[in-house]
Amino acid sequence: MELKETIKNRRSIRKYKNTKIAKEIIEDLIDCARLAPSAKNRQPWKFVIVTDTIKNQIADIMLEKENSAKVNLERKIYNANSSVKTTAKIIKEAPILILVLKEYEDNWMIGDLLSIGGAIEHICLRATDLGLGSLWIRDIVYTQKDIAKLIGYENMELISAISIGYPDENPKPRPRKELNEVLEWL
Ligand SMILES: Cc1cc2nc3c(=O)[nH]c(=O)nc-3n(C[C@H](O)[C@H](O)[C@H](O)COP(=O)(O)O)c2cc1C
Repeated sequence: MELKETIKNRRSIRKYKNTKIAKEIIEDLIDCARLAPSAKNRQPWKFVIVTDTIKNQIADIMLEKENSAKVNLERKIYNANSSVKTTAKIIKEAPILILVLKEYEDNWMIGDLLSIGGAIEHICLRATDLGLGSLWIRDIVYTQKDIAKLIGYENMELISAISIGYPDENPKPRPRKELNEVLEWL
């Protein structure tokens, strides 16, 4: 696929076929992530692939904490609406979940977060290119410490996750601001 076509065709995919994804394909996605640019070339990322039991335990952690007082307070602070339950269900149904972690390094926080965003987009675009669907997931942030502990990465910060699978839906493009709303020439 031409790059612009891939960019146009990418959608957040929330329904997946129950089809196994070859290990080489997942390695290809992470290979694309690894090639992303990063601030000072720090490459501040670690990608952990989870399937089956661990993936479902992650979704359960999200669901368990969903109604706790602490999470509700965080919600208010971040003004986030509650999509956690829906996202947890998507994680359970997706064949594969990629967890994206970064080292705790306050001095590089913004640069490292921007770099990780770029790497994640490489994954999502390459997934589209290969006929896979992807969903970039932020809803793990409320339980990031518990999830990092579960996978044995307490020393790192879980920033995001991406669910991957062969698409079982074909959503229309979601609305976007017009070019003239977001672009200004001075
Ligand atoms: C940083 C980031 C975090 C996101 N987190 C979630 C999430 O936790 N759950 C979810 O269902 N969608 C999540 N999304 C998907 C967005 O809702 C989606 O990208 C947006 O609605 C535009 O739709 P599109 O990706 O199909 O163009 C996230 C997207 C980004 C970029």
